Amino acid sequence: MKIAVLAGDGIGPEVTAQSVKVLRTLAGNRLDLQMTSAPIGQAGVDADGVPLPDATLKLAGESDAILFGSVGGPTDELPDRKKRPGAGLLKLRKALTLFANYRPAVLFEELIGASTLRPEIVRGVDMLILRELNGDLYFGEPRGVHMEDGKRVGINTMRYSEDEIARIAHAGFKAAQGRRGKLCSVDKSNVLETMQLWREVVMEVGREYPDVELSHLYIDAASMMLIRKPTQFDVIVTGNVFGDILSDAAAMLTGSIGMLPSASMGPGTQGLFEPVHGSAPDIAGKDIANPIASILSSAMMLRYSLGLPEEADKVERAVRTVLAAGLRTVDIQQPGTRLVGTAEMGDAIAAALEIAA
Ligand code: IPM
Ligand code: MG
Repeated sequence: MKIAVLAGDGIGPEVTAQSVKVLRTLAGNRLDLQMTSAPIGQAGVDADGVPLPDATLKLAGESDAILFGSVGGPTDELPDRKKRPGAGLLKLRKALTLFANYRPAVLFEELIGASTLRPEIVRGVDMLILRELNGDLYFGEPRGVHMEDGKRVGINTMRYSEDEIARIAHAGFKAAQGRRGKLCSVDKSNVLETMQLWREVVMEVGREYPDVELSHLYIDAASMMLIRKPTQFDVIVTGNVFGDILSDAAAMLTGSIGMLPSASMGPGTQGLFEPVHGSAPDIAGKDIANPIASILSSAMMLRYSLGLPEEADKVERAVRTVLAAGLRTVDIQQPGTRLVGTAEMGDAIAAALEIAA
């Protein structure tokens, strides 16, 4: 099994190294996991002048799965957006048709006090945000900034074809079938034509899934509900932009964005697995970042791309064991727990794995 390791920038390399450690321990001499690294993001710009070097794209395309860290750096605000580190990730998502982004937000009972919301609000949070990743304002044309009557005008285009909506809707209904059977589609169909089409197509696709309870919310109401009564959600399906925003908000329900993994899937089993948090340059290189989001992303990789669900369970159990033992990185630290760094957290999870195996 071929895994492309694209650690990227900021805390990406530190947290990804912990995943690699855990995967090596898990594999031992039983599984053949071939891991190959390549630069992306600022690291790609530094190495090759572009955020997604051709060799990196080739390696990714030929792999069964991509383990991704994070991208971001000093060229983030460059006027040429194609040279920005984030553009490397967007191009990779598009080139490999990774259109379905699964972002589970699950509260670990041990971390209930780490959330900024009251325990009675967040207890039992277990939702999946399914974000469309190949369309919307992110890719729609026309786009850009031009001059009109001597003034600058900025344009981005919200665009979805019915096929693009239907394929993410199918993914949403299937995900709901594998969970509690509830799908909430989030749109802004009261104002935007694109979103009116979104709602229509989701309803059409829904007729094929009579066993799934479908509901709809506008993005503004959904944001409010996410904070007011987050346990009402099972699966949320939404577009690229709304999903970007809602998934960061949902992250905070669980205590720390440092806990949230994600998977980006295409039509086949190939996927890209990345922590939801970004490159966090302010804490990079200090050995304080939480590697759990990356390690849980590896578990998703084992389950979704490599067909190893039992190995995925083992990794998730090892994470729970270590949390139950009271080890915490600083972002989830609470009174009475033991503070550890990035590498020590990785070591502990790898060790718990050996005991579990
Ligand atoms: C994310 C990030 C990216 C996005 C950035 C880095 C381009 O915020 O994965 O949520 O907007 O999709
Ligand atoms: Mg985001």
